[in-house]
Amino acid sequence: AWKLNPAAGFTKPSGPVALLILDGVGLGPKEEYNAFHTARTPFLDKLMAGTAPDGSRVLTGRLDASGKSVGLPDMGDMGNSEVGHNAIGAGRVFDQGAKLVNNAFADGSYAKGDVWKWLVEPCAGDDSGTLHLIGLYSDGNVHSHVNHVTQMIEGAIEKGVKRIRLHILADGRDVGEKSALDYIGPLEKRLDTLRKAGTDVEVASGGGRMVVTMDRYEADWAIVQRGWAAHVLGDTDKNATFPSASAAVQHFYNSDPKMTDQYLPPFVLVDGDGKAKGPIQDGDSVLFWNFRGDRAIEISVAFEAPEGEFPHFDRVRVPEVRYAGMMQYDGDRALPKRFLVAPPSIDRTVGEYTVKNGFKRFSISETQKYGHVTYFYNGNRSSKFDECKELYVCIPSYQEREDTRPWMKCAEVTDAAIEGLKTFSPDLIVLNYPNGDMCGHTGSTTAARMGMEAIDLCLSRLVPELLAAGAVIIISADHGNCEGMATLDKKTGKPVPGTQPEGWKPLTSHTMEQVPVLVFGEGVDKLEMNEEARWSADAPECKGAGIVNLGGTVLNLLGLEAPPDFLPSVVKPAASSA
Ligand code: 3PG
Ligand code: CO
Repeated sequence: AWKLNPAAGFTKPSGPVALLILDGVGLGPKEEYNAFHTARTPFLDKLMAGTAPDGSRVLTGRLDASGKSVGLPDMGDMGNSEVGHNAIGAGRVFDQGAKLVNNAFADGSYAKGDVWKWLVEPCAGDDSGTLHLIGLYSDGNVHSHVNHVTQMIEGAIEKGVKRIRLHILADGRDVGEKSALDYIGPLEKRLDTLRKAGTDVEVASGGGRMVVTMDRYEADWAIVQRGWAAHVLGDTDKNATFPSASAAVQHFYNSDPKMTDQYLPPFVLVDGDGKAKGPIQDGDSVLFWNFRGDRAIEISVAFEAPEGEFPHFDRVRVPEVRYAGMMQYDGDRALPKRFLVAPPSIDRTVGEYTVKNGFKRFSISETQKYGHVTYFYNGNRSSKFDECKELYVCIPSYQEREDTRPWMKCAEVTDAAIEGLKTFSPDLIVLNYPNGDMCGHTGSTTAARMGMEAIDLCLSRLVPELLAAGAVIIISADHGNCEGMATLDKKTGKPVPGTQPEGWKPLTSHTMEQVPVLVFGEGVDKLEMNEEARWSADAPECKGAGIVNLGGTVLNLLGLEAPPDFLPSVVKPAASSA
């Protein structure tokens, strides 16, 4: 069943099919706040205008990359790298974590399974354990949603839980960059009411998501260690202490006017005697409420790895707790062992078809996006399909903030891509340049422009090598980000005034914009854009193709007919060459 037929009208190029993903690079209005537009990118500009460096034609188009086109609940949901790479790698739209968890909370089924009961049981009644809830506290809906947290608190109280502690990570990356108090304010009020009604419920610790707990792809375990010290150990020697979460956030804002939520230092909340309000103890239960896996894996390992099998930092004390995640974050590693909602089962990915049809695949990025071209592209699987036929290369990212090094490691990624092209002779290359996204998330327009200029320089080195090797190249993106660097006034559509050198309030989150698609290289002269391609055959909202259509595109360009349930390719044999 894995063997795919040859695709009519497509011939595999003599070189590889190279899928180059420019993370977070969308097509926004041509305004000053569009860092892709204002960056000096002569190489990309020429490609976008329809000409490749060898003079051949570039097929160009735009693709949907948000909302239902990538399996999110609503058309108004911005895209993200998880759902984007899942879609690109699966060639079909799957209901994503955000939607599955949403459904499980809408009908209450999250609490009907064994895991919720298992968590709540040791914490019900007097003299029992504490229920700890940890996660990203915002309504960004990329990693998590605050509504799930309030619903769980109420659900737990209903089941007789008497003591609850929250460990909250401030966002500022999927939502406004200084919006933490908009979430914490109402939470503190709500907890106050619940305390008056007899439940001992408090925020116990927290910090900013980029420095506390939510590391990904082992970029920097010190981030997880800080979270462990604040949430688990309640370490009041090493952490700043405060009476409340809002006092903590306000303090950090006051002491550094440039401070934004994602970079807030860790903090521990203490009672009148200076004692931590909620360290995690033997007999407690812990739920990590993020549904997205990349930034939830390491903290889950920290909770689940036995003594002697955790080399990443000294945990000091490992409490005997019942631990569960909102989802299972990594099926291959069964991590975590217990979870509230079953993850989407994304099967038969392009990556798997590629190797099962005898082709060699090479995935490459730097740490920050390495898992995107392996784990997410493979349908949230961390392991290879075929050790001999796959080469995965990870260039270590800087640990410093991207607004201080907007070029990131794109030069090194390019060097390694050229090297791998020559030594491994891959049939499929999946490469991700993170700069548009990672610089976009810092809110610095200057950094986002520089990031794009660095990518342009790298493409001007990589693309000629690929063309010389007989490649067909697809350049696209997983979602928008750097093309929208200003927060826009909803009424006027103009940037809201603010602190950036340009005078506007930064926008750190992703956008709803479409993304570019460029196809060129060997054999593309016999192809044309497939204007009929749609991401759904029947969704009324669907007007055209989306990034999910890139799955079938890659298979077709490899000369293979895509399985019937894959969405159609964005290119087709040209009518004139038929
Ligand atoms: C992050 O995790 O950095 C952001 O929440 C989303 O960014 P990504 O989806 O581009 O990784
Ligand atoms: Co992003």
